[in-house]
Amino acid sequence: MSKNDIKQQIGNYAAKLVQNHTTVGLGTGTTVSYFLVALAQRIKKEHLDIVGVTTSEKTTLSAKELGIRIVDIDDTDGIDLTIDGADEVDTYLNGIKGGGAALLMEKIVAKNSKENVWIVDESKVHNILGSFPLPVEVVPFGSGRLYREFALKGLNPRYRVDNLGRRIVTDAQHYIIDLVLDVINNPYELAQYLESRVGVVEHGLFLGIANRVIVGNDDGIEVLE
Ligand code: 5RP
Repeated sequence: MSKNDIKQQIGNYAAKLVQNHTTVGLGTGTTVSYFLVALAQRIKKEHLDIVGVTTSEKTTLSAKELGIRIVDIDDTDGIDLTIDGADEVDTYLNGIKGGGAALLMEKIVAKNSKENVWIVDESKVHNILGSFPLPVEVVPFGSGRLYREFALKGLNPRYRVDNLGRRIVTDAQHYIIDLVLDVINNPYELAQYLESRVGVVEHGLFLGIANRVIVGNDDGIEVLE
């Protein structure tokens, strides 16, 4: 099966988890894009009353194009279930997110959601986090000082740039500094350190947030919980 076929299979599976009359957090990324298509099809076919809360401008655009009703996060009583992708997941269901630069809104939606389900292919599941560079969203002002501090601490920072070498700017107008770490031995300690740095808006360590991870592979779907 190709990677896209696996993502399609995961997206279809995830769309079936959404209940009628609920508010759903809609993640960001290529795997989520398959989920959005499958969800939109279900909504139309089964005349479901479902509204979405999005995690990026990209997802807002795709959801609207597909005819999924969107509500502002501040105008909903609560998010019942959020379906999102992840860049790396460990066996404790901790993860790294932000490969698509949407970590800030993704974390706000996740933290306001009663249940969080991640959808990934099996290549993203590892015993220990760190092989995916850890995204840190920072305020542009003074970010060079943070960058130097990260470098001195051995965190191997890289500004995220586009293919023309320009620093990418997030939906909330921040920069991303990726920390190239290989192994994160103590994700909770690193999260605490990053949260203590002024100018850091959010980081891509999503710890204790996912309730379930839907893992797709050539043989089908496996659910980690
Ligand atoms: C965006 C994210 C995505 O969920 C993550 O990058 C996974 O994306 P994909 O399904 O395309 O691999 O965290 O900020």
